[in-house]
Amino acid sequence: MTTVSTPVADRASSPSSASSASTPVSSAVSAAPAARPAAAAATTARRRTPWSADLYADALRAGRGPLFLRRPDGWLLPLDIERWCAGPDEADRSVLRQCRGSVLDIGCGPGRMAAELARRGQPALGIDITPAAVERTRAAGATALLASVFDPLPQEGEWGSALLLDGNIGIGGDPPALLARIRELLAPGGRLLAEAAPVGVDERLRARLDNGRGEHGPSFPWARAGRAALRGHAERTGWRTAAQWRFRGRHFLLLDARRRP
Ligand SMILES: C[S@@+](CC[C@H](N)C(=O)[O-])C[C@H]1O[C@@H](n2cnc3c(N)ncnc32)[C@H](O)[C@@H]1O
Repeated sequence: MTTVSTPVADRASSPSSASSASTPVSSAVSAAPAARPAAAAATTARRRTPWSADLYADALRAGRGPLFLRRPDGWLLPLDIERWCAGPDEADRSVLRQCRGSVLDIGCGPGRMAAELARRGQPALGIDITPAAVERTRAAGATALLASVFDPLPQEGEWGSALLLDGNIGIGGDPPALLARIRELLAPGGRLLAEAAPVGVDERLRARLDNGRGEHGPSFPWARAGRAALRGHAERTGWRTAAQWRFRGRHFLLLDARRRP
């Protein structure tokens, strides 16, 4: 049985308005390249891929945890499955207000943000490497694609906004590489709404999903970045911090893609 040693409430997210670009998200998605699932490392896990492992899929299907990110030293970071599976809250709405044009929700999970944008008639696409997340996002009424942010994606260089919420600066375990990739996806003048960890941290780690009951998935690279670290990574990769705010303990940055030299 795994011991839940230090459950630290730590999470990060971002800001948000009206749609201006009329991007044909659905048609672009149907023409999208086939998704390439993330590489899987064999470990003691119940299954193959990290986020696609059964523990996360089971939690998403049930709409609840407990589920944690576990560091090699046993430290556990609780994942807010219930909040992700609910509708957008006030903090999320502060992010949605900052969205412009077509919106790419990177690591959309069960899709509360993409679904809300779809309800508002704003073009949006959720992408996620976990089939259960894509299924839930589509069931919630949004367009979603089973794909990694590092895969070829529809409308590269044309997205008006991107979302990187709920700790997703950790995707790939290399924030500068992720931020540089997102710049490629956005249109000139596009914006990234990114959530920072609510603590002063700048960490790369190997994590596993852990249900706190003795089951865990394979390890995968992940990262955590508080506000200062996220700003630093962003400004070194061609972003300008246009705004930052805090809402109910969550920290958000509005980043503008600077003109390329
Ligand atoms: C910390 S969770 C955040 C979930 C989410 N934002 C929500 O609203 O539920 C990270 C999400 O990113 C997805 N993910 C991990 N690596 C990814 C990648 N390379 N590309 C796209 N999504 C990825 C995971 O499957 C998972 O759904």
